[in-house]
Amino acid sequence: MLAITLLVLCAVGTQALDNGLARTPPMGWLIWERFRCNTNCKLDPNNCVSEKLVKEMADRMVEDGYKDVGYEYVNLDDCWSDKERDAQGRLQADPDRFPSGIKSLADYIHSRGLKMGIYGDYGTKTCAGYPGSLGHLQTDAQTFADWGIDMLKLDGCNSNVTTMKKGYPEMTKYLNATGRPILFSCSWPDYERAAKIPINYTLVADNCNIWRNYDDINDSWGSITGIIDYYDKTQDTLVPAAGPGHFNDPDMIVVGDQGINVNQANAQMAMWSIFAAPLLMSNDLRNIQPVYRDILQNKEVIRINQDPAGKMGKRVLTFGSNVEVWHRPLHQYQEWAVVILNKDTKPQTVSFMLSQLGFTAWGYEIREVLTHTELGHYGIYLPVNFTAPPMGATMLYAYTSS
Ligand code: GLA
Repeated sequence: MLAITLLVLCAVGTQALDNGLARTPPMGWLIWERFRCNTNCKLDPNNCVSEKLVKEMADRMVEDGYKDVGYEYVNLDDCWSDKERDAQGRLQADPDRFPSGIKSLADYIHSRGLKMGIYGDYGTKTCAGYPGSLGHLQTDAQTFADWGIDMLKLDGCNSNVTTMKKGYPEMTKYLNATGRPILFSCSWPDYERAAKIPINYTLVADNCNIWRNYDDINDSWGSITGIIDYYDKTQDTLVPAAGPGHFNDPDMIVVGDQGINVNQANAQMAMWSIFAAPLLMSNDLRNIQPVYRDILQNKEVIRINQDPAGKMGKRVLTFGSNVEVWHRPLHQYQEWAVVILNKDTKPQTVSFMLSQLGFTAWGYEIREVLTHTELGHYGIYLPVNFTAPPMGATMLYAYTSS
């Protein structure tokens, strides 16, 4: 009896995602927010969704220092495929825009020391109307593995959301069965939220490496703060779900796009690092001003994002309706990241004691990591003032030497 129970338990155990990936939040580039479903290569040959564009981004990632600081995935999104499956029922790339095929593109990306991500959809069609994986989950998992894919984003348009709790774990099983470690990015909880179906984050975290929970980002401050507000509101559910191997995904980094300024860009990097969120840039790495490149490559912020404990941070204080203090525990004893987020259009100075953040050592050394400034030693029971720039953030790294 015991043996049978153990066997059953083992069989169930292997259903969970077991790929060893995303021990820290994945970093890379994702085509969607910046390039969308631009398939018109005749009119716009340099910006259409094509192997040329993806190769150019892989080159920039290597040659402009992104790879050196940790960005590694180069990811397609919707609109890469042909409108029809091939004669064997497999997905195939659009032949005009990907004349060499996806396997060859993955080989190129691997030859540059990077990894490749692709996009599919759990329903009958993708959000943009390309073939979906419903009824083909196993074939598609195998096709992606055969091509050498390293990450799969499985969207949820055109599907029956009530079946996702069963269907996404099925895909997990098929991905596991390929034997190729493929980081699994699920849109499942976002669709459940929208359909007002209760989300079981334990199940999600067992089956997905990262998962979307909220609306699509666009390159505007309103979109960024909308996502932050949702994370604020739901933090008690989201924080326990995150950890090494499984992270919440508030969507792409839009730093370097044209809709946000420097303060806002710093704030997005800071908050996504407090969230222990994936850093998947969606921008045009061929045309990016140095100031934004520096923000994307800020090693002090990336170090916080990539902290090995993989704990997600939370909001701990608010000042009026526009200033919030967030913190994230890091892996060393008494080591913290803190963000003072200012949504106001004017600079704001706030005053608080470190003890109010739950800090318990006598004193901390503090560094501001967006401007790389040493601020000095602070006790926990004296009020300290911090000024955050308009529609921006101040990010502190606090540690104790005692
Ligand atoms: C959905 C997703 C986006 C993107 C598009 C593609 O909206 O949330 O991230 O993948 O579909 O059509």
